[in-house]
Amino acid sequence: MTTPLPASAVAAGSRHADGAFLRACRRQRPRHHPVWFMRQAGRALPEYKAAREGVAMLDSCRRPDLVVEITTQPVRRYGVDAAVLFSDIVVPLAAVGVDLDIVPGVGPVIASPVRDRAGVAAIRSLEGDDVDFVTEAVRALAADLPVPVIGFAGAPFTLASYLVEGGPSRQHLRTKALMYAEPALWHALLERLAALASAFLRVQIDAGAAAVQLFDSWVGTLSEADYRRHVLPHSAAVLASVADVPRIHFGVGTGELLRAMGEAGADVVGVDWRVPLDEAARRVGPGRALQGNLDPAVVATAPWGVVAAAVDDMLERGRAAEGHVVNLGHGVLPETDPDVLTRVVERVHAAPVG
Ligand code: CP3
Repeated sequence: MTTPLPASAVAAGSRHADGAFLRACRRQRPRHHPVWFMRQAGRALPEYKAAREGVAMLDSCRRPDLVVEITTQPVRRYGVDAAVLFSDIVVPLAAVGVDLDIVPGVGPVIASPVRDRAGVAAIRSLEGDDVDFVTEAVRALAADLPVPVIGFAGAPFTLASYLVEGGPSRQHLRTKALMYAEPALWHALLERLAALASAFLRVQIDAGAAAVQLFDSWVGTLSEADYRRHVLPHSAAVLASVADVPRIHFGVGTGELLRAMGEAGADVVGVDWRVPLDEAARRVGPGRALQGNLDPAVVATAPWGVVAAAVDDMLERGRAAEGHVVNLGHGVLPETDPDVLTRVVERVHAAPVG
């Protein structure tokens, strides 16, 4: 079921409806291959470093003037086909009172990790003016940018992994411990996080975001059976709540989960660099577009000839998908030369659409 769009979103969405990015999301033939980069607004850009000088990450996410400037920087420099909102997946958690910080070079760190019923109960829902700064920034961007704005949220599993571990983790053992030992508490936690993610995406759509991406960055740590049982219903609830715009669903190391992630309700399934797009199209099956999947390390380290060959191979394999949004297989690495990304965009835009 789709809910009617507010006037602002109709205006913003329809203004770009015929653009390459939204057409590819809808599996319609675009005039050129659309491209944007996860973490395109970040430490690879000197203008980003200048804008962030002396401002802590979370503070920068709460300043609409900075959010507008930083979201716009990669559009200006690279000529990408979409702008991802400058924010972070932990911004809605901080907005509902979770005590956390984003530590440079580390990532989100939670003051009191959530491991019991009281911890889960303390995560309240998003309300009123909690994220007015997001509304203000997205409205300005949707009105002014020449390309659609992509809103985003962290998926319930990835948000839970930060909350339960207390910070970044490689093996997610505490997260899995909660999931296996206390399934009722686990589902209660994921239900709350799904409601929070839905509310945060709705704020962005109401302000004019024309598409959304649900980041389940760390869900690749699960088997398909565990994913289906412990995670999929909650991600599906989030995606079903925003069915009025194209929905991208992304994770890293999710080669074995691609079909299930598509079944969770995405219009576009994000693919990392480990699975070639023609194979990913086979795994995902019909009725979905794909997004990806250049290796960020290739873009950051390889000579141009190697990067160019990787771009051509990705485009060729991407023909197997019903729609293809070009991207990296994960975020831009800080070591990346921005000029290489500019050349990637030029090469993608110049390539014939099959
Ligand atoms: O193009 C963009 O930069 C869009 C904005 C964006 C950020 N984070 C800004 C950011 C988006 C979409 C995210 C999502 C995000 N945040 C994810 C999902 C995407 C992914 O990478 O898998 C995750 C897992 C997080 C949590 C997080 N926040 C991490 C792992 C880090 C990196 C820690 C580090 O410094 O290496 C952050 C911090 C962060 N988020 C930065 C930026 C620009 C760096 C902060 C800085 O410059 O000090």
